[in-house]
Amino acid sequence: MTVDARTGPEVEQVGSPRAAVLAMPSYKPGKDAKQSEAELGITNAIKLASNENPLPPLPEVVAAITAVIGGVNRYADHRAMDLRAVLAQWQGVELSHVTVGNGSSAILHRLAAAYVDAGDEVLYPWRSFEVYPVYTKLLDGIPVTVPLVDETADLAGLAAAITERTKLIMIANPNNPTGTALSATKLNEFCSQVPRNVVVVIDEAYFEFVDPALGNTIVDVLPHHPNVIVTRTFSKAQGLAGLRVGYAVADPQIISAIDKTQLPFAVNAAAQAGAIAAVQHSDKIAMRVRDIVEERGRVLAEVRSWGVEVPESQANFVYLPLGAKANAVFAAMERDGVVIRLFDQLGVRITISTPAENTRMLLSLKNALA
Ligand SMILES: Cc1ncc(COP(=O)(O)O)c(C=O)c1O
Repeated sequence: MTVDARTGPEVEQVGSPRAAVLAMPSYKPGKDAKQSEAELGITNAIKLASNENPLPPLPEVVAAITAVIGGVNRYADHRAMDLRAVLAQWQGVELSHVTVGNGSSAILHRLAAAYVDAGDEVLYPWRSFEVYPVYTKLLDGIPVTVPLVDETADLAGLAAAITERTKLIMIANPNNPTGTALSATKLNEFCSQVPRNVVVVIDEAYFEFVDPALGNTIVDVLPHHPNVIVTRTFSKAQGLAGLRVGYAVADPQIISAIDKTQLPFAVNAAAQAGAIAAVQHSDKIAMRVRDIVEERGRVLAEVRSWGVEVPESQANFVYLPLGAKANAVFAAMERDGVVIRLFDQLGVRITISTPAENTRMLLSLKNALA
């Protein structure tokens, strides 16, 4: 029996969650604009907190989604074979090298489920994507972190931190929240130092926003290293965050291991249809990506012109390592209805949006910093 501190009466404990779950924090999504409006009594707030695409999906993608909605009394294809085939052709790989997931974060979760036993080490740079520690601890794995150097993953540090207990290495490229990216050449060199029994996950949720000069890991790394998996998503460039669909490319041994950990029918019919249509119209999506990349350049240049340090971003967001000032800047911008992502006492991450929203954000940021 436990005592509820607010009400006093004893409450019977229901079930016994595992210690790992009891100790785990809940995933905190970026704050919603409506939440800020309700809390602060403001209107017309904009959300620049979750690195979403500011534009709705292409009309062709909406049409493909709409076309399948009438059939959702049936389960979708559990293995999503049509989508896998489209992805394999798009990426120039064999069908057996591709899998799909309920967002790429679900694929990361399946990797942990497939490879991490209690006491195994999961190695990743820090700070990075917040699900890495969550998934590791959920499996009773041991997080081993290597601090960023110049806001960028430290590959030499990661190589030095590999032990006999390392099972997975997770590298977000570009890194979230800092936006910095490593070239495929550097990642390829790093993977040469990793034993084959360790799986290296290159998490490329923001791949489309990266300078093509940095290379393509599917072409430049995977053929040399069968222990590497590249994960990507339709949530960002393609604007399908709400549908939850991502994919991964790897050696068939890794694909079949993580396919065993897929929940039944995880990728729904609308997500499969929307993702196929998005691939078929990737030329139009590339034009939208170009606009965001251009806006990223404008935002970076403007903020730097105020003397503020901002790491080079290869993603659809920028990170300001403001330290102790971060909380006040976040709060001031929220009062202006510009909702960004706060990393307590460390910095803020701001999603690049439409030109009008970026201009509004810059005005608010400048005032908040003053
Ligand atoms: C580095 C990184 N990886 C993966 C994801 C997951 O994206 P999704 O699950 O929507 O595919 C995100 C989302 O913000 C991310 O920042």
